[in-house]
Amino acid sequence: MVFGRNYGGAGCRPQQDITLTLALLRLQHVRVALNPIRDAPTHRACFRSDFNASSSMAKVPVFDIDPEAFHADPYPALAALQAEAPIAFVPQLQATLFTKRDDIFEQEKRVDTFSSDQPDGLMTRLMGRNMMRKDGTEHLAERKATFAAFSPRTVVQHWMPRFRATTQAILDDLAPQGGCDLVHDYAMPVAGNALRVITGLETLTAAEIDQASQSMMDGISNYAGDADTEVRCRAATAKLDAAIDATTTPHEMSLIAVQRAAGISEYSTKANVKLAISGGQNEPRDVIAGASWALLTHPEQRELLAEGSARWRNVFEEYARWISPIGMSPRRVARFDQIGGVDLKPEERVFFMFGAGNRDPDVFADPDVFDITRDTSKSIAFGAGPHFCAGAAASRSLIADVALPMLFDRFPDLRLSGEAQFAGWAFRGPLQVPVRWD
Ligand code: HEM
Repeated sequence: MVFGRNYGGAGCRPQQDITLTLALLRLQHVRVALNPIRDAPTHRACFRSDFNASSSMAKVPVFDIDPEAFHADPYPALAALQAEAPIAFVPQLQATLFTKRDDIFEQEKRVDTFSSDQPDGLMTRLMGRNMMRKDGTEHLAERKATFAAFSPRTVVQHWMPRFRATTQAILDDLAPQGGCDLVHDYAMPVAGNALRVITGLETLTAAEIDQASQSMMDGISNYAGDADTEVRCRAATAKLDAAIDATTTPHEMSLIAVQRAAGISEYSTKANVKLAISGGQNEPRDVIAGASWALLTHPEQRELLAEGSARWRNVFEEYARWISPIGMSPRRVARFDQIGGVDLKPEERVFFMFGAGNRDPDVFADPDVFDITRDTSKSIAFGAGPHFCAGAAASRSLIADVALPMLFDRFPDLRLSGEAQFAGWAFRGPLQVPVRWD
């Protein structure tokens, strides 16, 4: 949950991730000034000793990327990384990237080396220290306390009927229009309404949830230090804090209620609600719109679904593998370690690249192909360690049991009416998916 894609807020035209681009270009500029291997060709790995002045001859492969190309489509560079240097330092991201599925699956669990605690990180500073930024027993305590709001049983008993009702209302409003942008007009309110229900923040609208989510995502990816972005993020978190304070009788199974019942401090309760809103809005939105686009552009896959050779759950899992909505999760190196011959030093930054792992050719045959009949059991779209997505059961139900089938049932002649452009690598999804129906 580091870099986001800017949508420009509800109702605005989507824009490129300017914050990210500026931040990365700034980093690149520094590298050019300091790095003796600056002429290494793009997408090429080389081996460099002592890449950090403080290191005593640490060995780390260095791999250069073109930040703009990476933002537009990270998969070519990720495939090259996997083939040439599966664990490599990428100067433009100032991080060591793990790109092989099995490496990520194994290493993410080694929390003594790969810590989630990032005290000086933007997320901690702007949103409060949530469970995604805790390790070990400290993390487990909050994970257990929040489980009741996220459990498969709660999802089926309490949230599913609400998901269906709000989605039905959105479809009823859209039907007479004959067309829409699936990202903004359908996926966004469906995801926002689900979060209102799960968190207990029902006084806010879905649009307010979405706006808060986007402002926080922009804030925690604001490596360029843009003052306006920080102000917007702080305003969003203040608004959420006030709304949580005002929520005195939330649904008993909501994220707010179960944490209060478990005795979690109000500070941590708020931090975890903000985490769910910042991290639980864009992924369902991107999968609902993206998987719809995938089916509309792969009629043979839609046919498999129609004839019963695959189910909506398969569509969900395969899309999340193919275009992972969260492409990576960051960690802080907490102690000296050596993995695969690569040295890691305390305080270095590691990115576990889920999106790359999900296209690892050693695990998935023809990984670039969208195939809803494939075995996706080794997908790491929801992570691979103690921070495995808490909202996984809710997301599967919302997307595969409600949002996708209800959309395609309601509009059997659903068709694309324009191009869908995708962007992002830390978070990836379509910027717009224009569709029509009769
Ligand atoms: C398609 C939808 C979603 C995807 C693909 C997704 C993916 C992820 C990933 C990759 C992580 C980090 C895992 C790691 O670092 O190992 C994560 C963490 C998390 N997600 Fe999701 N997510 C989705 C939806 C949601 C929703 C809807 C919610 C809340 C309602 C949510 C709440 C969380 C929380 C609270 C964490 C942190 C868990 C912890 O620290 O223990 N997610 N998610």
